[in-house]
Amino acid sequence: MSKFVIEGGAKLKGKVNIGGFKNAAVAIIPATLLCPGKCIIQNVPKINDVYVFEEILTELGAKVDLLEDMSLSIDASEVNDCYLKNGLSKKMRASYYLLGAGLGRFKKASTLLPGGCAIGTRPIDQHIKGFEALGATVNITSEGRINVQATKLVGTRIYLDVVSVGATINIMLAAIYAEGKTIIENAAKEPHIVDTANFLNSMGADVKGAGTDVIRINGVKELKGCTYKVIPDQIEAGTYMIAAAATKGDIIIDDIIPKHMEPVTAKLKEMGMGIEEYGDSMRIFYEKDLVPVNIQTLPYPGFPTDLQQPMTVLLSTLKGNSTVVEGVSEDRFRYVEELLKMGANIKYSKRQAKIKGITHLKGSVVQATDLRAGAALIIAGLIGDGLTEITEIQHIDRGYEKLENKFMNLGAKIKRVIDEE
Ligand code: EPZ
Repeated sequence: MSKFVIEGGAKLKGKVNIGGFKNAAVAIIPATLLCPGKCIIQNVPKINDVYVFEEILTELGAKVDLLEDMSLSIDASEVNDCYLKNGLSKKMRASYYLLGAGLGRFKKASTLLPGGCAIGTRPIDQHIKGFEALGATVNITSEGRINVQATKLVGTRIYLDVVSVGATINIMLAAIYAEGKTIIENAAKEPHIVDTANFLNSMGADVKGAGTDVIRINGVKELKGCTYKVIPDQIEAGTYMIAAAATKGDIIIDDIIPKHMEPVTAKLKEMGMGIEEYGDSMRIFYEKDLVPVNIQTLPYPGFPTDLQQPMTVLLSTLKGNSTVVEGVSEDRFRYVEELLKMGANIKYSKRQAKIKGITHLKGSVVQATDLRAGAALIIAGLIGDGLTEITEIQHIDRGYEKLENKFMNLGAKIKRVIDEE
């Protein structure tokens, strides 16, 4: 097992390049299963969730190669079904996209129920509702295997009761070859919904309206291979922006789409951070004492739930009171227990945290309870007095590329230590 050891106190300075968006890549990679041809996916992040998908697609019979420019070449021509025998699907949440992609191409798919971050119950009833509306039958066995199958899929109108990123993408995947028109209402609008739709259209699909709450899919007869570049990771970028604010730093974030950062930019500006936007980069710099703000996470374009945890750390060291309301995930404040060990003054329930700012967090031994909690604890370590040790960092490796190198390049004192025990 590895851990991160961080010596707090460094102000972040310099430039950081942002990689491809994890949550787009983990939708686009399984979406290649829809196409009996070769797709080249560029700007794929080098993270564990992607490596698991490479393994899954290979297991299913696809030819997966890492090219010299680090693009991923995936040829799913020889894949004949989407029955995943082993438990790889339990390693992450996004494995549920195998169901939509498999149903779309082969009219059936079967995996074990998905795993992923422990941030609440995370049902998939809206995915199932969409598959059933298209004509599929879905059954979940007592062993936790989910089977979907259809004799034919027919386009229809599907209203999502909950705005769900995963259900929106999964229904898009399942509907690509369905007869006629599928309309998804109350669809999620996140940038990776648009990115996945753009990828599908590059293969020859007919998806319109992604990025709005109504998505229309006209079923097509065939898809062809294509080359596609994944958008930058807005959550990775937001993590470094918040880290810059917390450490009173001055950094350039490069290779991003500033528009996607607006919910974060707006809040950091409200707190008093200096922000300059350029074409595909931003400068984030500390100018004066920051003031606390209230945050409510919401589906895009609201403040992202995936940055709630880093933002709570920042707020915990600002003079004054603030409230963070979690409007997306069911139970995403468990990591606060770790912040309390570092001296934070936070009262929390499943959906809300009330923060009284303190001037200093103290270095401690803490545990990354999930991916973004891990990122938040790194920020806590960067501003904590003395040494902080973060254990269970496999959660962080699922979603952040070269995290310690990027932080070290910005002047942070962070190292990965391999624990012999
Ligand atoms: C995606 O999860 C992301 N994961 C999450 O990122 C992110 O936190 C989340 O969207 C919200 O933005 C991936 O893209 C792989 P949802 P997903 O379906 O698709 C409820 C990270 O840190 N819901 O939009 O699982 C659900 O319980 C991860 O990178 C239902 O009730 O999220 C939640 O409260 C963590 N029924 C809300 O909707 C359903 O069928 C939003 O979930 C589906 C969801």
